[in-house]
Amino acid sequence: MKRTLFEFFNKGSGWKLTAAAVDFKFLLWRIRHPGAHFSDFYAGSIAVGLKQGRSHKTLGNKKFLSGSLVSHPVKLEHSENQTRGTNYFAVTTRYGLQPEHICVDYGCGSLRVGQHLIDYLQPEKYFGLDIVSDFYEAGKSLLPQQALETKKPKFQTINSITLKTVSIKNPHFIVSFAVLKHIPPNELDLYFRNIVSMMSAHSQAVITFNQAKRTVRTGAKIWDYCQDEIIASVHNQGSDLYCIINPLDTEQIEESLPRISILLIRKKKKSLSNN
Ligand SMILES: C[S@@+](CC[C@H](N)C(=O)[O-])C[C@H]1O[C@@H](n2cnc3c(N)ncnc32)[C@H](O)[C@@H]1O
Repeated sequence: MKRTLFEFFNKGSGWKLTAAAVDFKFLLWRIRHPGAHFSDFYAGSIAVGLKQGRSHKTLGNKKFLSGSLVSHPVKLEHSENQTRGTNYFAVTTRYGLQPEHICVDYGCGSLRVGQHLIDYLQPEKYFGLDIVSDFYEAGKSLLPQQALETKKPKFQTINSITLKTVSIKNPHFIVSFAVLKHIPPNELDLYFRNIVSMMSAHSQAVITFNQAKRTVRTGAKIWDYCQDEIIASVHNQGSDLYCIINPLDTEQIEESLPRISILLIRKKKKSLSNN
């Protein structure tokens, strides 16, 4: 029963009711947080739920239970946690991540993918950034203490100072998994601006998103994007950038949409001129 209700309001035909309720709550919330973004509201409301003992599919340190508002989720075992995020981690090595590279995990959440990146990378090469520290703190509680002590990953909340500090490190990779699907269209430019601000000539950004033929909201806090809108927003951040879009699932037929896609952002090489 709880599962059915959860499915109806989150994925089923009831999601539009949920979206209307979410939008109304956001309007009220904005009165108390003038100038704040939907992303802050989205992340903040999940953080409150986690503090109240609820579980979430990808965030926090508890096993996900549908309808956990009235259930009592238990803490994830380390071994269970380790099985999560492996598909996204495989993407990073597929696109060339090496242990000696510096990697920023933008919207790292509770380290579902971050745990594998930390394990793979050399010490002090992993930077986990998120708009809410509670998420990565929960993720840290699922990692062996030894991993934190030997690999010395760095965690920070996102703001202009953090972005500047990280950009000075010249990261090779900026990865952002399962984040863009939660960014509404009017915050797309800001999302890409922050990512691009950390990129240097040799950086590449690896970002997943839900790709559809046209941009459409598909859940209370989920948007599918058409590639033209994504590419236009990236180009708004600089004319020296180019994008490549591939399916996450390499078995999938190129044209079939909707699907989870990978967006790569790179900087064009400066041509050497004698002038
Ligand atoms: C579904 S979780 C994914 C977390 C992690 N990347 C993973 O794959 O498990 C989405 C994350 O994006 C973060 N987020 C939401 N809006 C963001 C924004 N505008 N900039 C950066 N992170 C954001 C949330 O706080 C949350 O941790």
